[in-house]
Amino acid sequence: MRRDLFRMPTGIYMDGNSLGPLPLASERAVARVMREWQQEAVAGWDGWFGLAERLSPTVAKLVGARPEEVIATGSITANLHALLASFYRPSGARRHIVATALDFPTDLYALQAWAERYGAELRLVESRDGHTLLEDDLEAALTDDVALAWFPTVLYRSGQLLDVARLSRTAHARGVLIGFDAAHSAGALPHAFHDTGVDFAVWCHYKYVNAGPGAPGGLFVHERHFDAAPGLPGWWGNDKSNQFEMRPHYRRARGAAAFQQGTPPLLALAALEGALEVFGTVDLEAVRARSLALTDLLIAEADAHLPELHVVTPREHARRGGHVALAHPDARLLSLALRERGIVPDFREPDILRLAPVALYTTEDEVREVVSVLRDLLDRGSYRDLEGRQVDVT
Ligand SMILES: Cc1ncc(COP(=O)(O)O)c(C=O)c1O
Repeated sequence: MRRDLFRMPTGIYMDGNSLGPLPLASERAVARVMREWQQEAVAGWDGWFGLAERLSPTVAKLVGARPEEVIATGSITANLHALLASFYRPSGARRHIVATALDFPTDLYALQAWAERYGAELRLVESRDGHTLLEDDLEAALTDDVALAWFPTVLYRSGQLLDVARLSRTAHARGVLIGFDAAHSAGALPHAFHDTGVDFAVWCHYKYVNAGPGAPGGLFVHERHFDAAPGLPGWWGNDKSNQFEMRPHYRRARGAAAFQQGTPPLLALAALEGALEVFGTVDLEAVRARSLALTDLLIAEADAHLPELHVVTPREHARRGGHVALAHPDARLLSLALRERGIVPDFREPDILRLAPVALYTTEDEVREVVSVLRDLLDRGSYRDLEGRQVDVT
């Protein structure tokens, strides 16, 4: 528990799976870069140059990678396009892409565009219950005509954690490249992308890594692909030692750093630098243990006091990410009513209330309080009076 490292918003914050709170270290790092900008102007680049690369050892810990296999850059969407431009090479009969019907929309938009470009299909594995996926069904989709599989590590609605190692093994045994969107697991639980042999992955740093709205994302490329040329190259992916020689031919950096494109947003990178300081002081296994204890508590409290709400998040630890999803036909109104009571939850269409008790800063008492306020709201029924109001987009 490192709540002391954050400037928490007032009330009870249960939406860290959407946007983490402000780390004090980010505030300091951004203030430092602002000062350097004011005092040194362009000379500030002497210190700023290579900042993303200097963050790689800590970023690598988040996903169980070697430092050269990761880089903080871009957004999930841009990074996914960069990976597809580099690694999606349909050839002969092996040409289609497999993803899931429960993927976050931006991933599907990107995958669809690349499949269409090559006249291939984007095949979506359906959920049997509308909330979760079976690894058996995902594996069954990895047929001889599939070139690439793209799955979430943790599903953004239900919070189900997929078996990354098992899916990677099966994909490789069948000659399929496999990548993951780790938006809902980076910073919430440990990964071992290098050892499990995941081909590539993307994630964001604005959720469980707390690096601020629109923070630069994360990109992983397994070292066995270091020979692959980035499909969307830019000068920031040039070898840092001679980038400013301004040669007409690109000499790419080694590893994931080559997948950078243009000048990074330094203020945002500084906020990430601060946020990563927090992860330098904690053990991800301990973070995961506390996260599971908190979601266990939330599920137990919901079972005991909120029978009207259906817990759609898997109960097994091995299949659960960092948040708990509760289904209720009035989830939208309940979210609004919680906000009025000083609790920030998260709502996902059509009927999902997502609650994220985050290991680094949420207390057990806060979890109990949220359940007790929900009980009170359901008993009074007055939340229905909020009909007609919009839910903030978070
Ligand atoms: C699973 C997942 N993928 C992608 C995104 C968004 O991508 P980007 O960072 O490009 O906006 C989100 C945002 O919440 C997400 O939850």
